[in-house]
Amino acid sequence: MCGIVGYIGNRDAYPVLIKGLKRLEYRGYDSAGVALLNGDTTIYKKKGKVSELEAYVRGKETLSTIGIGHTRWATHGKPSDLNAHPHQSEKGLFTIIHNGIIENYSVLKKTLMDQGMKFYSETDTEVLANLIEYIYTSEDISVEVAVSLALQKVVGAYGLLVISREDPNLMIAARRSSPLVIGLGSNEYFIASDATPIVEYTDRVIYLNNDDIALIRRDELVLKNLVSESTKVNIKTLDMSISEMEKQGYEHYMLKEIFEQPRSIMDTFRGRINSETNEIRLGGLLDVKDQLVNAKRIVVIACGTSWHAGLVGEYLIEDLARIPVEVEYASEFRYRNPMIGPDDVVLAISQSGETADTLAAIQLAREAGALVLGICNVAGSSISRETHAGVYTHAGIEIGVASTKAFTAQVTVLTMMAIMIGKEKGLLSEKRFSQLLKELNDVPGQIEKILELNEEFKHIAEMYKDASNALYLGRGVSFPVALEGALKLKEISYIHAEGYPAAEMKHGPIALIDEKMPVVFIATKDSSYEKIVSNIQEVKARNGVVIAIVTEGDSIIKEIADHVIEIPKSDESLVSLTAVVPLQLIAYHIALMRGCNVDQPRNLAKSVTVE
Ligand code: F6R
Repeated sequence: MCGIVGYIGNRDAYPVLIKGLKRLEYRGYDSAGVALLNGDTTIYKKKGKVSELEAYVRGKETLSTIGIGHTRWATHGKPSDLNAHPHQSEKGLFTIIHNGIIENYSVLKKTLMDQGMKFYSETDTEVLANLIEYIYTSEDISVEVAVSLALQKVVGAYGLLVISREDPNLMIAARRSSPLVIGLGSNEYFIASDATPIVEYTDRVIYLNNDDIALIRRDELVLKNLVSESTKVNIKTLDMSISEMEKQGYEHYMLKEIFEQPRSIMDTFRGRINSETNEIRLGGLLDVKDQLVNAKRIVVIACGTSWHAGLVGEYLIEDLARIPVEVEYASEFRYRNPMIGPDDVVLAISQSGETADTLAAIQLAREAGALVLGICNVAGSSISRETHAGVYTHAGIEIGVASTKAFTAQVTVLTMMAIMIGKEKGLLSEKRFSQLLKELNDVPGQIEKILELNEEFKHIAEMYKDASNALYLGRGVSFPVALEGALKLKEISYIHAEGYPAAEMKHGPIALIDEKMPVVFIATKDSSYEKIVSNIQEVKARNGVVIAIVTEGDSIIKEIADHVIEIPKSDESLVSLTAVVPLQLIAYHIALMRGCNVDQPRNLAKSVTVE
């Protein structure tokens, strides 16, 4: 949420910043700005997309080799030119960009106003800029000390960059609960809220830890903690390529990511399943395997789409590994007093690895003594570092704000975990184990076949693009697929959609059914097939419109549903991996037909780093 980019070196800073902001725009896109330091500080900022900022700056003076840039997702203060970052302190000594929330900003603001300081924006960030300046001008101290003293007074989260005309060859980066990465060049540094703007310049990076302050000059990088003690620099190598971040001929990132799923799922299980030796090897879990296999209970914590993947995991782990599973919204778990202790295994699922509520829930589980494992997509992310052990999904960078390939990659990891534990516990015969591995191996090919039906999905989208409401229904492992289908539709097309367990329909949602509202059933041939056929009949008996996802060759539902989408037959445990794909594509086409910005839906941002 909010993108931060900074450059210090010998290049022209502005092109690096503007390119970086475009790469980061998926994190927030309601306003953008840059500050360039060249003796004095020049700030350009604009409400709207990065392209609007770029047009505004065209032809203006941008000469500078040190600068900072920001793309915003509003928290304090509505999107406007004034509330856009960077923010400058009252006398113009300090200029900052900030991601996160300063929770005690109103107390700080009042104190500073009592001292006669003026404020021009509604943001918490301006309060921090003024606080730094107030401390700096009240005492005879360096820029660096003023920043660390100010940060000691802050309650809340921040990832921030500070530049100052008082020390024009210095950039300060600081982090608490909001990520920052520093790319190391030769006498130059690239700083950003994630590695996407850095990868084209260097693959050597440092991920800041909480309460780190980095003092960055062209020829030197010093890491300190909040009380100015030096801390260890730990250089990592990025495993990311520029081409991954391009649309590669697709109209949208979301479409590209949907079509990547055969490959991304394969990348998730590559090297981890060996059908010849009949083995599943999840390297990141080797040290904790016994504890996992013998767990009395697994508690999944996640948000949004990752929470839906967790629900699929519940079904799989309980069915194949016979361990009780509870799936919790991280945002609820962390604010109650959960019954959790050293006997529990907590499994945090997150694409970005930066979701603030999931991170806070991890902290709580760790403090309670639980073993905390992670399923993460972004290597080096906070969640991957805060968990005791875990598994990367290896889906590749996901830029579309609506999560697609991350979901199927998470489900793939959960499937491997469930099968692995089931085998270790002696619950799965060799035959069943090999069959599941073979079925998992077949999934990428099955998704290829489903993607070939894209024109059919477009046709269905055309018919229902003007609906105001939609209902998604499934049973068993297909219920989370229904939830995920409804979430995809509502978040990118703004059509109200709800996911329900099909059997619950008659306890309420059935009242909504009329000839206008599409009801999407995930009705593949599984253990509850007959029941779901009855549910479809119940909808048809009330003149409802039914779109059904069925198993190839199904002739019964074809007779009753308005539209059927046939997907290849697979094991019941694996059906979520294939059944979700038509729902992703139908949501995509409907959103496009309604003129919505598919990759950057309104009010949303990728990586929710605020609570
Ligand atoms: C929906 C979506 C969100 C995320 C949620 C959690 O398409 O993308 O619901 O799934 O914000 O994010 P991560 O997985 O990064 O923790």
